[in-house]
This record gives sequence, C-alpha cells and structure tokens, in this order.
Amino acid sequence: MKPTTLADLRQLKKEKRKFATITAYDASFAHLFAEQGINVMLIGDSLGMTVQGFDSTLPVTVEDISYHTRSVRNGAPNAFLIADLPFMSYATPEQSFASAAALMRAGANMVKIEGGDWLCNTVKMLAERAVPVCGHLGLTPQSVNILGGYKVQGRSEDAAQKLLNDAIALENAGMQLLVLECVPAELAKRVTDALDIPVIGIGAGNMTDAQILVMHDALGITAKAPKFAKDFLKETGNIRDAINLYIEEVESGAYPDKAHSFN
Ligand code: KIV
Repeated sequence: MKPTTLADLRQLKKEKRKFATITAYDASFAHLFAEQGINVMLIGDSLGMTVQGFDSTLPVTVEDISYHTRSVRNGAPNAFLIADLPFMSYATPEQSFASAAALMRAGANMVKIEGGDWLCNTVKMLAERAVPVCGHLGLTPQSVNILGGYKVQGRSEDAAQKLLNDAIALENAGMQLLVLECVPAELAKRVTDALDIPVIGIGAGNMTDAQILVMHDALGITAKAPKFAKDFLKETGNIRDAINLYIEEVESGAYPDKAHSFN
C-alpha cells in the first residue's frame, strides 16, 4: 500500500467522501487500525489520560509524544501520522521549531497545535520550514484551566464568529488540516464549508469532512465517556469489527447521529 498524503485527504474533501481517523499510541493497535483501513492516526496528548492516567493532558511532554509516535510509525508504516505538540511546547515560534523537529524525526507527517489566530505566525513559520500543521479549535483541552472545564464551545454567535475567523486566519497562514472539538454541528458545518482544507470533527456533528475518536472511547474502555463518544465494540463484540463499523458509519454519515452531537 502506498503512503497516505495530505493531497489524498484534500482529494477526499473535493469528492465529498468522508473519512475516519482515530488516535493511536502503540504499534499493535496502529497496525490493526491500518489493516482495517484507517489511514490517518493521531498520536494525541490524550495519552496523558488514556495511557498515563493523569486527569488532564498538561503533564505530557514532547519526549512522551515522540516515544509513542515512534511506536505507531513502527506499526503503521504507510499511515499519515499527526502528532500533538503538547502543552507549552509551542509557546513561541522558536520553541515550536525544536518541538516539531523532535516529532517529525520520530515519524510524524504533521504536528497539531491548539489555539486561534495568535498561532498564525507559528503556523506560517513551521510551514515555511517544511512542517505541515493541523490546527485544533473549539474545546482545546490544553486550555482546560482557562475554559473552566471540558465544555462545548462556540455556542453564542460572537464565539461562533470568532472561531470561524480563527479558522480562516489559520488556513490563510498555512494550516493544512483542522480538528474541531465539541462545537455545535451547525457551526462545524459553517467552518467546514468555509475552508478548502479538510476539517476533522470530534463532538462536532456529522457535517465535517472527517471524524476522529479517542480509541479508548470507540472501544468502550473510557470509564466516563463524553456524550459524543460511541462504543463500537459493544455493538460488534470484537475489535476488528468495531473498527470496521466505525469506518462504515463515518463514511455513510450515520455516526455521529443527533444523540452524539451538540445542537
Ligand atoms: O489528544 C487527542 O487525542 C486529541 C483528540 C481529542 C482530537 O486532540
């Protein structure tokens, strides 16, 4: 199989074909996900909670993400890998260069950063230095102490407009993918329609170009899963069938339905 590229993902958006992505942290699951047909994986700083057992993503370091990125790359040599730049590893553009270099050397194809238009310069400078950037707007877990919890974002018209403006500014700065987390489905559609780049939703309704789930949520492992999460293992009884069902439901638009979305 040939490696998946950003051009492939843009083509899917152009053809209005939805695609499923998932978080992965180790070689065995990465291999299984790739075998079932998931070609895009995120080494998310959610590993601070799912793998390390912390109550937020804040303790995660660049070294942690590098370690897991190497493992995922070993398990899925042809997948397109997005690796999270963790908390405080991109506070300045200069700091982001060193952090991004470590993740790209570990096998990432792209780095993901959380935040709005204050990151435009960082996105531009990383892109100029051959590092593709995925943005992350809406509920940005690294800002949990500012947001006051893991809450739905963009509910007021002002907040929605600000999020849309941020997305457009970041795309103009060179962002090549966007993750939109926990926003009303209608706002996610506005952002998806406004951008040329693919938009990946999580808790953002079924009108984005793609979906992502934390693998522990998709497999029913998370003790207190968020409203938008669906346990595909419960419906199928084995992991391969669960992943196949997740892919099928994302591609058809069946997941997320209204019960797993915010309106
Ligand atoms: O860290 C992570 O797993 C993420 C997803 C929730 C998108 O950022």
